[in-house]
Amino acid sequence: MRLKEENACKNEGEKENGGHVRLKEENGFKNEVEKDNERVTSQSLYSTMISGAYQQQKLVVGYALTSKKVKSFLQPKLEGLARKKGIIFVAIDHHRPLSDQGPFDIVLHKLTGKEWCQILEDYGQTHPEVTVLDPPDAIQHVHNRQSMLQDVADLNLSDSHGKVGVPRQLVIKKDPSSIPDAVTRAGLMLPLVAKPLVVDGSAKSHELSLAYDQLSLSLLEPPLVLQEFVNHGGVLFKVYIVGEAIKVVRRFSLPDVNKRELLNNAGVFQFPRVSSAAASADDADLDPCIAELPPRPLLEKLARELRRRLGLHLFNIDMIREHGTRDRFYVIDINYFPGYGKMPGYEHIFTDFLLDLVQSKHKRHPPNNS
Ligand SMILES: Nc1ncnc2c1ncn2[C@@H]1O[C@H](COP(=O)(O)OP(=O)(O)O)[C@@H](O)[C@H]1O
Ligand SMILES: [Mg+2]
Repeated sequence: MRLKEENACKNEGEKENGGHVRLKEENGFKNEVEKDNERVTSQSLYSTMISGAYQQQKLVVGYALTSKKVKSFLQPKLEGLARKKGIIFVAIDHHRPLSDQGPFDIVLHKLTGKEWCQILEDYGQTHPEVTVLDPPDAIQHVHNRQSMLQDVADLNLSDSHGKVGVPRQLVIKKDPSSIPDAVTRAGLMLPLVAKPLVVDGSAKSHELSLAYDQLSLSLLEPPLVLQEFVNHGGVLFKVYIVGEAIKVVRRFSLPDVNKRELLNNAGVFQFPRVSSAAASADDADLDPCIAELPPRPLLEKLARELRRRLGLHLFNIDMIREHGTRDRFYVIDINYFPGYGKMPGYEHIFTDFLLDLVQSKHKRHPPNNS
């Protein structure tokens, strides 16, 4: 009897939690019977609320996100739609034990640090009924620019719709003076993009530079990844993935580097902070050969495989098309829980995803309360 069990867990702390208060205000329940039901339901886990004529299920999503993320993701439109669909978002206080909070059906998070990862690991063990989005070790895997692209390389996706790879790259752990030689040995072509090896959310980990000549490479600061710059006509595709849903948007990117520029330039140049600030190129009047979106079947295959291999539900992929080709694509970056505020229609996509997630879990492990 799931409902019973779950209600048995209720305590005073839970009565005070944000979800309870919000549930009350937002549903604007009228009669006393409903108020009683509400009291019970707000403390139960995705429990069945019987309020006379209808049955409504509540899905409680606990979130541990930075305030910046809360602002961009948890916009009023998302919360409003979620509420209509029976989903409530409850802030997790990561200074308090997680088990004292909730109960939750889903825990959504994007915090870093060993301590937080351990808390989530432990919570996952003691609360197998809760879906943690996503597992900390899977997120960790995409915080390293070498390992994040390894799965794309291993996948070696190539079919009638196109080919998806990663630019040739080299990891430099230390000793900048060894870089020119290492690059020659690896046969990498200039110019090279230098990216900090670890992406930890800091501004510094997104400070990229472009190196035009071999000697200047020794000015770089390891640990880093050196990646061949691939001309792509100045347009990048951001592929947003939320479970099985995929949306692609175009963004302006760095312009091509031609041979003459390469010969006439030397040195290392810092990139403008392109990745998050880049303007949308969706409405721009672009050469169709550059602007045409990657074929849908190719993206579906790529997303499906990466979801499985990375063990993630929520991420995006930065993808470029090699200029002058129709179907040669490169993945250059993968981000966990990206700025979904920029994904068109993310409110519907995200709420449907959360509902589907719990429903499919219930199908696999039916709650024993019917
Ligand atoms: N190999 C590459 N070839 C061409 N352009 C690149 C390459 N790698 C990165 N860029 C450009 O630099 C931007 C930022 O690189 P990215 O790897 O996405 O780092 P970030 O973590 O800062 O988003 C990309 O959006 C793209 O414009
Ligand atoms: Mg990027």
